[in-house]
Amino acid sequence: MSEPGLEEYGELAAEIREILISAEELQAKVRQIGRAISQDYAGRSPLLVGVLKGVVLFMADLLRAVTIPVEVDFLAVSSYSSEARQKSGLVRLEKDLETSITGRHVLFVEDVIDTGLTLNYLLRNLRARQPASLEVCVLFNKAENRLIDIPIKYKGFDLPDRFVVGYGLDYQEKYRNLPFVGLLKPEALRK
Ligand code: PRP
Repeated sequence: MSEPGLEEYGELAAEIREILISAEELQAKVRQIGRAISQDYAGRSPLLVGVLKGVVLFMADLLRAVTIPVEVDFLAVSSYSSEARQKSGLVRLEKDLETSITGRHVLFVEDVIDTGLTLNYLLRNLRARQPASLEVCVLFNKAENRLIDIPIKYKGFDLPDRFVVGYGLDYQEKYRNLPFVGLLKPEALRK
């Protein structure tokens, strides 16, 4: 592992087996997506909508990379276990938007899409509020487990179906603050 400044993360860094996407690669990609959004949405003042909590790091960096006027709002959903969700497709909205999206250009920003169930539910919910447009921006795409096809306008990285942490992604709420994305050592996963 040759990530600059990795040693500063001490006990967290010691539990990382391999870095899959460096902080530099992440920042470069987020800047690229920010430029594309700034061009595509010029003059339309979009509302960026994120789902807590994993998206927080991506959203913060993306907002800084967008150079046109934008607004931001957040939703929260309950996390059912994968098994329960796959059976029911159910996602419960725990916190709704504070902004009315009717007639607005909405860009849904997600950290990771895996089965697609969460996004599918939330997009249907938002579409019913009649935004002027509704598009999706996803930083990490895990395509192997996809159950529902979701059109993605802005995509960062394809990830294998492996348990990754960092840059907002957690394991038991830890590791979100790592500035890179990596694989945990098996002993850390057993904790
Ligand atoms: C992640 C992500 C999505 C969901 C995607 O959230 O932010 O909401 O999983 O998975 P799906 O495509 O299989 O529905 P997570 O449950 O990890 O919660 P967190 O953002 O609070 O970490």
